[in-house]
Amino acid sequence: MKYSIQTPLLVLVHLVFLIVQTQSQSTDLLSKTCKKTPYYDLCLSSLQSSPQSSNSDIAGLAHIMADLVLSNATDTLDYIHSLLKQSPEADLQKPLANCAELYIPVVKYTLPQSIDALSNGHYGFANYGISDAAKEAQACEKGFSGSTKPLTDRNTLVSCLSEVAVAIINLVLG
Ligand SMILES: *[C@@H]1O[C@H](CO)[C@@H](O)[C@H](O)[C@H]1NC(C)=O
Repeated sequence: MKYSIQTPLLVLVHLVFLIVQTQSQSTDLLSKTCKKTPYYDLCLSSLQSSPQSSNSDIAGLAHIMADLVLSNATDTLDYIHSLLKQSPEADLQKPLANCAELYIPVVKYTLPQSIDALSNGHYGFANYGISDAAKEAQACEKGFSGSTKPLTDRNTLVSCLSEVAVAIINLVLG
């Protein structure tokens, strides 16, 4: 009876220790992985925002990043459409329409196919498509010549997230 209080306490201490240990292991993998990408902070905060990242291997982290690229690109395309609906001036309308043309195939085909490829272990093909997303975001940005550049933040984010995803996939490829 002497241990009736101590025993549960010990179990609790042990449990807390285990949780802390597991968490620091996954944080370790995240920071180790992100250090090998061009944007450490973005990589880390992006992966940490996903609850799945704590029990993912590197391939799983690549998948989480690829999903983030797709959701960001989709969000950007929606935003482009909403700007186009506001009938902007011609000098803005043209580059926006150009951006929609660049983003539509990325959102509809390239990224979904890349994510499928990732699930099937076709990492090279996946990388090809995800790098394309970065290229199209940069091409979209270059289309704005005036002082109004409504998509800079979003294009930069899509481009950087893509580069991070590509770097993580390269780690999987070894
Ligand atoms: C875009 O990526 C950022 C950075 O990871 C994330 O915080 C944000 O939720 C993403 N946006 C969408 C719409 O997925």
